[in-house]
Amino acid sequence: MGLHENQRLAGLGQSEIRAMTLACTQAKGINLAQGVCDTGVPPLVIDAAKQAMDQGVNTYTRYDGLAELRQALAQRMKTFNHMTVNSETEVTVSAGATGAFYCVCMGLLQPGDEVILFEPYYGYHLSTIVSVEAVPKFVSLRGSDWSLSLDDLEQAVTNRTKAIVVNTPGNPSGKVFTTQELEGIAAVARQHDLFIITDEIYEYFVHDNHKHVSMAALPGMADRTITISGYSKTFSITGWRIGHVAADARWSSIIGAMNDLVYVCAPAPLQYGVAVGIQQLGVEFYQELQQAFQHKRDQFCQVLLDIGLPPTIPQGAYYVLADVSCLPGRTGKERAMYLLEKTGVAGVPGEAFFQGAEGARYVRFSFAKTDADLDVACERLKKGV
Ligand SMILES: Cc1ncc(COP(=O)(O)O)c(C=O)c1O
Repeated sequence: MGLHENQRLAGLGQSEIRAMTLACTQAKGINLAQGVCDTGVPPLVIDAAKQAMDQGVNTYTRYDGLAELRQALAQRMKTFNHMTVNSETEVTVSAGATGAFYCVCMGLLQPGDEVILFEPYYGYHLSTIVSVEAVPKFVSLRGSDWSLSLDDLEQAVTNRTKAIVVNTPGNPSGKVFTTQELEGIAAVARQHDLFIITDEIYEYFVHDNHKHVSMAALPGMADRTITISGYSKTFSITGWRIGHVAADARWSSIIGAMNDLVYVCAPAPLQYGVAVGIQQLGVEFYQELQQAFQHKRDQFCQVLLDIGLPPTIPQGAYYVLADVSCLPGRTGKERAMYLLEKTGVAGVPGEAFFQGAEGARYVRFSFAKTDADLDVACERLKKGV
């Protein structure tokens, strides 16, 4: 037979985002490719994790997470998301939202099951679906506000469809789904008896007058909605690997079993730090976060407009897709490399988020940078383009 790798995943390799990060390091550029929040961690979150280590919270936790964190999450989901979640049976703390999504896919999807993804999509969603031998089906969001056609969604459903993935606020689009859109998706899910898997990791990054709405809070949707989120972005702790998933107890037991199988548990003292952050940080923290990121968005989008790379203004999250079709090159990759050479600013080629040729028009930038770094990136773009 010979030695060879798993063919199904052979194409996966290094993600385009990591590849650009590498090229950026080599060029000593400013990395706006990866969504690494290098803004500060709330000090009380760090202190609580340190104290937990000092006080012996260093061994395995229950497979689905520390009680303090599950309870804090359930309480937060009640007040912020308007969801009713039992902290004993319906929450699983995992290795980031990424680990949570993987456990959900392993636990709920069978090989051959079709899963609907909205395009532009987050690459990890696609790769994870493929990794469990499920089959992605794409529905394009259209226009400057990435609006959804329910007809397109209906047409994508077949008798093999098992789930719809909703990412709100979305990466890379920044789209914040409205209640009306979510109700439309919910009706399709109910009619065809589908799961909805929502990734709400950017729930606190919502700009202007948009509002984050959780699918699971809509009437009758809690049973079939699997809600994934986490504090990687909100507390700037992407390296801690703490995320969670909330789902009806029937689904949580299998998702939890998968989490146990792959990770055993999430890092114990870090779970404690996040729990204290959720318990103690008040409404001002979330307001300041929102204001700071809206300011970064406005500053960065204005520069993109000024230099002739028109942005689709994101309603949430901290990425922007800029139209780079006027730059030399035939692909998003060539245009992203051109930008890196000319300006020392790295973005992600649009092909990472689209199936079709549309990706060539875009480069995605992350504006989750310190003000100082963002200023330098803006200056370089203004001078270089
Ligand atoms: C939509 C989306 N989900 C999940 C993640 C990863 O979250 P975590 O670090 O908690 O795994 C990201 C990070 O870029 C993301 O954009």
